[in-house]
Amino acid sequence: MTSTLRTVAEAMVAPGRGILAADESSGTANARFSKLGIPQTAELRRQYRELLFTSADLGRWISGAILYDETLRQADTQGTPLADVLKAAGILAGIKVDTGTLPLELGDGIEKVTAGLDGLAQRVSEYVGLGATFAKWRAVIAIGDGIPSARCLHVNAHALARYAAICQAGGLVPIVEPEILMDGDQADHDIDVAFAVQERVLTEVFSELAHAGVAFEGMVLKPSMVVPGQKSSRAATSREIAEATVTNLLRRVPAAVAGIAFLSGGQGDIEATVNLNEINRVAKERGAPWPLTFSFGRALQAPAIAAWLGNGANVRAAQGQLLHRAQMNGMAALGEYTEQAEGQRALVPA
Ligand code: 13P
Repeated sequence: MTSTLRTVAEAMVAPGRGILAADESSGTANARFSKLGIPQTAELRRQYRELLFTSADLGRWISGAILYDETLRQADTQGTPLADVLKAAGILAGIKVDTGTLPLELGDGIEKVTAGLDGLAQRVSEYVGLGATFAKWRAVIAIGDGIPSARCLHVNAHALARYAAICQAGGLVPIVEPEILMDGDQADHDIDVAFAVQERVLTEVFSELAHAGVAFEGMVLKPSMVVPGQKSSRAATSREIAEATVTNLLRRVPAAVAGIAFLSGGQGDIEATVNLNEINRVAKERGAPWPLTFSFGRALQAPAIAAWLGNGANVRAAQGQLLHRAQMNGMAALGEYTEQAEGQRALVPA
């Protein structure tokens, strides 16, 4: 492994900073636009990403932004590539390199496998040329009746490991994201079930990463927090979520991993911040060896996109919303978030 991989990985999880996941595929971005009545065009997707990346001082709390292929090829209104806009703001540019999920072959039709290994080495090389320094690949694991199957975990972990090795060989730091979905209709999908599945997932993922020769110092793990499913009949407190999450990670994640950056996965934006904060408090008490930060998509962007609505007159208000969530999550990544800070909303323009 080169020292550059380690340096980039450490920068991605620097104290009090986290990652902005803005790598929604055009289809997913369009679906979010459509819900808010925003026209679904490449130009509006470009304007929206420009809005996000040019929020003043974003780099204080955001170390890196994950982009979709389309965005990495787009420029700001002045013609500066968005990757350079990020660089000027002290933010690393990352790239989503998986090509989405497909039904798992020979499976039940519900379980998925993530695709995108074909031609990946060539794409990595192109993305490095376009200014990317890290990458993301997301596997999705559903909890349900008799699932996840051992085969689903194995196949997805194997693909994650192959992706991570290809990225490191090509000079990109891999974000390894095995997401455990919190939706589904199981009333018995409680925190204990989520804990047991997380343990199986991490066991399989780190076994495959080791077999593929991936250097843990040059990667970032992006896991789900251990939370009950949305239809669970048993709620959990943020303390229970933090205890379960940290216990699980301490058991199954090697200390050499550069850092851990959680996804938000459909949690409310403040809920995700509160849980990240509590996780950091528990991690400090237990002497956890890694920085624990955020790599949120929806929990960072939801208030911003709702304030923007595709209207240029709302850009400053939308940026204020993003900056506020970025700052709150930056505090939570240090275990220093407070309700009082949440209430101040100091950065939201009037
Ligand atoms: P969410 O935080 O909205 O789950 O998105 C993170 C992400 O990058 C999913 O792949």
